[in-house]
Amino acid sequence: MPTPYDAAFSSQEAINAVVRSANRSLLLVSGGEKAGDEAMLEKARQSMEAGATGLIFGRNGAEGPACGVRFGPVQVPAGCASLGSRGKEALMKALVYGGPGEKSWTQVPDPTIIDPRDAIIQVDTVTICGTDLHILAGDVPAVQAGRVLGHEAVGTVVDVGSGVSGVSRGDRVLASCISACGVCRYCRTGSYGQCRSGGGWVLGHLVDGVQAQYARLPFADLSTYRLPANVTDEAAVMLADILPTSYEVGVLNGQVRPGDTVVVVGVGPIGLAAILTARLYSPSHIIAIDKAESRLQAAKHFGADVAVKPDDDPMEVISALTDGLGADVVMEAVGTPAAFELCTTLVRPGGHVANIGVHGKPATLHLEDLWIRNVTITTGLVDTYSTPNLLKMLGAGQFDVGHMITHRFGLDEFMAAYDVFAKPAETGALKVVLSRQ
Ligand SMILES: NC(=O)c1ccc[n+]([C@@H]2O[C@H](COP(=O)([O-])OP(=O)(O)OC[C@H]3O[C@@H](n4cnc5c(N)ncnc54)[C@H](O)[C@@H]3O)[C@@H](O)[C@H]2O)c1
Ligand SMILES: [Zn+2]
Ligand SMILES: [Zn+2]
Repeated sequence: MPTPYDAAFSSQEAINAVVRSANRSLLLVSGGEKAGDEAMLEKARQSMEAGATGLIFGRNGAEGPACGVRFGPVQVPAGCASLGSRGKEALMKALVYGGPGEKSWTQVPDPTIIDPRDAIIQVDTVTICGTDLHILAGDVPAVQAGRVLGHEAVGTVVDVGSGVSGVSRGDRVLASCISACGVCRYCRTGSYGQCRSGGGWVLGHLVDGVQAQYARLPFADLSTYRLPANVTDEAAVMLADILPTSYEVGVLNGQVRPGDTVVVVGVGPIGLAAILTARLYSPSHIIAIDKAESRLQAAKHFGADVAVKPDDDPMEVISALTDGLGADVVMEAVGTPAAFELCTTLVRPGGHVANIGVHGKPATLHLEDLWIRNVTITTGLVDTYSTPNLLKMLGAGQFDVGHMITHRFGLDEFMAAYDVFAKPAETGALKVVLSRQ
């Protein structure tokens, strides 16, 4: 009896449609029995080495070992073509990375379940991250041409694998920037960002992401959050990355306490979210430091009581507020040597420097000044362990992320949205949001 997987391949017409639309040489992989998987994978590996650029998987709905799509830790290469849950005509639009400086909103095959722990969502609301701009600048070489970008979205579940028990079809979920296998040693302690079994930051990085009409979410049970009715899509999507990042890597790593003097160096979306979440701890003062006047104005709106440019002697301002000691907590939300080195000069003895910024170049660590001052310096990739808590606080009105969103677009307007987001000095953009109409 043919498996559902074989049935998908029996439609030559469907395969031809995918081949035509993808305009790529495709490797067809069929299989069924679990015992056959290794041979199938070997065939896949050899074909990839020989230059094949895609795989065709079985239909969605073909679940478990019988469908022959147990790829486990093997990465599905960029440019992978598949038959999706909407049947043989299944093609969607997605924002596809084409190599440094290149991107397009173009037609690609629907994502499909390739592991029983996957879910497929229809993307309802999605945003762009500064990290996507880094990818487009060629700063993240692990991202291959052909990759669908994006790691921050809210969507509706349209399909789940047989190993998913926490979400089901029709659920409105937050797709977190971090995926988690839940069983490796890091996941067992909530360090999901460091997952060693195919999780961590993979969406829009190592696997296709969410800037698309549909997206596959690996390890759906631990990587998605069902949304309460009183939390809007737009508010929730701010919790996919920027809020947990600023809260965990800035506020919690920096150990902000009531009464503290908190400094945030760099007040883009991440720095502003750091201000928002630092306020949950009632600091005495929040000092925002940024080169851009528009960003300093935004920081005051979000709750900074002092705003100063890095060249206007921020230490003088901080000294006046702290009896000459320096700040209790200084957060770096830029990602440059100059910003990091500034942070270490503003912290008081015994204080914390919490680095959030992504650095591409080495920064100087002035141990000759720091060693005697008991300063704690932390770094980190977001884990998103705080997301359930942040969702609860958002639902209870403890903070408002509405002002974070400065521009709104339809899904089809991705190219325009990127243009606006990439020029914040001209456009005043903080976060841009795209929604399905
Ligand atoms: N650790 C993580 O898990 C994680 C997650 C997401 C983003 N990030 C990183 O956080 C950083 C901030 O992200 P964003 O989206 O807010 O970026 P952004 O580029 O929008 O904001 C950076 C701000 O820093 C300001 N700035 C530049 N040089 C400065 C200086 N010397 N002193 C003071 N301000 C300066 C800019 O004017 C800008 O307003 C980035 O490096 C990003 O990659 C880290
Ligand atoms: Zn991001
Ligand atoms: Zn893990």
